[in-house]
Amino acid sequence: MLNFKKKGIFIRKTEEKVQEEILHGGVLAVWGSPGSGKTIVATKIAKYLADKKKNVVLVLCDMTAPMLPCICPPSDLECEKSLGSILAAAHVSEALVKHNMITHKRLSYLTILGMLKGENEYTYPPYTEVQARELIENLRKIAPFVIIDCGSYIANDILSAVALMESDSVLRLANCDLKSISYLSSQLPLLRDSKWDADKQYKIGSNLKPQEGIEYINQVLGSVAFKLPHSQELEEQYLAGNLFGDLSMKDSRAFRKEIEKIAREVFGC
Ligand SMILES: Nc1ncnc2c1ncn2[C@@H]1O[C@H](COP(=O)(O)OP(=O)(O)OP(=O)(O)O)[C@@H](O)[C@H]1O
Ligand SMILES: [Mg+2]
Repeated sequence: MLNFKKKGIFIRKTEEKVQEEILHGGVLAVWGSPGSGKTIVATKIAKYLADKKKNVVLVLCDMTAPMLPCICPPSDLECEKSLGSILAAAHVSEALVKHNMITHKRLSYLTILGMLKGENEYTYPPYTEVQARELIENLRKIAPFVIIDCGSYIANDILSAVALMESDSVLRLANCDLKSISYLSSQLPLLRDSKWDADKQYKIGSNLKPQEGIEYINQVLGSVAFKLPHSQELEEQYLAGNLFGDLSMKDSRAFRKEIEKIAREVFGC
């Protein structure tokens, strides 16, 4: 069953590659080991762009622990619509996607797609890579900036797997620990087998602690394109379910700067 699923997800329909360089905007998949900070990073890049008045869609793939109720208070969201209703359709049209997008009340340039509190994989009929591809294609038409917060279990999570294939760039997050290394050595072969374009990924050391110096990071993770430090203020925002809050404390400065650097590199702004 798993092998069948793996193949279904990972085989490309066409060998065509997008040649043009994306200088402004595009689709970014945020991926990496479990608990590495994917949701935090996806959300903070989305906030950075929305603050700069760029239209951005944030897609939250997690169907096991829907993250919509965890990133901001429900009162900040204009309506209650579910990503599940989009994927449940036989075909995903632009109108269907637009109808199910949730606008953030204060960050008006930001819209979010995700599963609602209490929902899970079985709330809606099963979807296939067809709906996942159509969703991403339509998002490209709807907004110049699309950020997809992928799950780690890509062998079983069709939307995340398709996002890794179809995105223009991928942030690959890892903590500086053995679990992250074990995760990558287990999961990277799935992508290699499917002729995934590994050049589009940026390796990121995430939630790095002060004691994890540069030499230690290089030793555990190899060379990384960006280093996101641990921030106490960010941890508190996460616990409070308020990731669209500003990071103003001194200890968050390095994290903020790195998010800006990533957005500039990936999106050109
Ligand atoms: N830079 C950081 N500073 C402080 N805490 C962090 C940082 N990055 C990640 N964390 C902590 O790591 C935990 C996991 O974060 P998050 O949910 O964003 O990870 P994830 O990769 O999306 O997890 P999952 O695999 O469950 O989807 C949280 O407790 C969060 O506070
Ligand atoms: Mg997550």
